[in-house]
Amino acid sequence: MALPTTSTAAAAGRRHCHRLLALPMLLLVPSCLVLLAEASRIPTTLDGPFPPATRAFDRALRRGSDDVPLTDPRLAPRAQPPAPEQIALAASADADSLWVSWVTGRAQVGSNLTPLDPAAVHSEVWYGECSATAAGNAAYSYPYVATGSSEVYSQLYPYTGLLNYTSGAIHHVRLRGLRPATRYYYRCGDSSLPGGLSDERSFTTLPAAGAGSYPRRIAVVGDLGLTGNSTATVDHLAQNDPSLVLMVGDMTYANQYLSTGGKGVPCFSCSFPNAPIRESYQPRWDGWGRFMEPITSKIPLMVIEGNHEIEPQGHGGEVTFASYLARFAVPSKESGSNTKFYYSFNAGGIHFIMLGAYVDYNHTGAQYSWLEKDLQRVDRRVTPWVVAAWHPPWYNSYSSHYQEFECMRQEMEDLLYRHRVDIVFSGHMTLGNAPHQVITILKLVGFAI
Ligand SMILES: *[C@@H]1O[C@H](CO)[C@@H](O)[C@H](O)[C@H]1NC(C)=O
Ligand SMILES: *[C@@H]1O[C@H](CO)[C@@H](O)[C@H](O)[C@H]1NC(C)=O
Ligand SMILES: *[C@@H]1O[C@H](CO)[C@@H](O)[C@H](O)[C@H]1NC(C)=O
Ligand SMILES: [Fe+2]
Repeated sequence: MALPTTSTAAAAGRRHCHRLLALPMLLLVPSCLVLLAEASRIPTTLDGPFPPATRAFDRALRRGSDDVPLTDPRLAPRAQPPAPEQIALAASADADSLWVSWVTGRAQVGSNLTPLDPAAVHSEVWYGECSATAAGNAAYSYPYVATGSSEVYSQLYPYTGLLNYTSGAIHHVRLRGLRPATRYYYRCGDSSLPGGLSDERSFTTLPAAGAGSYPRRIAVVGDLGLTGNSTATVDHLAQNDPSLVLMVGDMTYANQYLSTGGKGVPCFSCSFPNAPIRESYQPRWDGWGRFMEPITSKIPLMVIEGNHEIEPQGHGGEVTFASYLARFAVPSKESGSNTKFYYSFNAGGIHFIMLGAYVDYNHTGAQYSWLEKDLQRVDRRVTPWVVAAWHPPWYNSYSSHYQEFECMRQEMEDLLYRHRVDIVFSGHMTLGNAPHQVITILKLVGFAI
């Protein structure tokens, strides 16, 4: 593949792939009709009230599900360094921008680790509206390149018997100037290194913000984990081909791997009596990144932290969330938040607000004042729907978590009501050692109009 030598809009005017010039126009018309027909069949909340639709709890799920081992082909490394792996997309605040993230180099586990130099491999995304690998496009080179930065994090335990970890280099690049609702093809990595670029992937940008402009389908997943049941969930998700995935916290359960995981110890405090904090087995995160890559390299994944992302480390656990903060790109700066613990973004006519339940949420704090400003900025003519998500639900009847976040509810609920937030999604309701399933609690707190 020939890469352009100059950056950015070398061929900005070239918008159509020569091969396909007429075909997309023909396809566009019937697919619009299908969407309209589909939309007219779906009643809105204004047609309600409807009886609540719930699914009875399947007690068989309490049996638990086996961990998918790191040797499983879906979790084992597939790319040879310096090639990128664990490629993942995240939406930016609006449809004209998108984050691409990936990992290069190998993570290390054990003692006497030498962290990688994150600057040793560059962070580039080469992209354009045509495939450079499709038959007949051999002469095509991507017209755009965006660059970003990379980081390495470590998870350190100064306690006998616990292993340290240092990650591969985690790269984040923000693409800008994208056209909404448009298919792009890309390769990421370091073009100066032999084998340093990924193979070609593609994504479709979200529709532009606007009333009547909606993503076709959105998946909401919580408490996913990395078990046999997670694979069933992810297969189901992939079959539904969503335009966007919301992941409302508790992603890998790396922090339970040695205590309750399939290959873990039956009693953590018996096996590690001198460790005041529980080890979080970080290679599970790398396995999860590979496991998710078939989806995340083509569909934006929007995450928010759950309790399983806290992962305390160091003496007494003073360092937290290292993996969450390093691995995921979220549009925090773009949405005025400046912390990955809470942020917002638009997907067509929906404004999504992702809130942090494990950072300060009181009404004199920074998150609350950011939320207030964010809600004030919402223009319902542009985004008629406002959807909020955070990990632990404020309302639930499950004894293990009953009223656990009552303080957060008391601080923030009134603000969400006043601004007529339409839908709230949460997770967190995993049942003891039961498999980590998609358990989404949907609560209507108001109406858009
Ligand atoms: C969840 O895992 C258990 C144990 O492996 C299995 O019996 C059950 O069928 C799985 N359920 C789903 C929905 O995949
Ligand atoms: C892990 O790192 C900590 C902090 O640097 C250190 O005290 C400890 O000895 C290391 N453990 C191993 C097994 O190398
Ligand atoms: C609220 O948060 C602020 C800033 O973190 C803190 O100074 C204050 O003590 C908190 N107030 C309450 C009631 O928790
Ligand atoms: Fe949780």
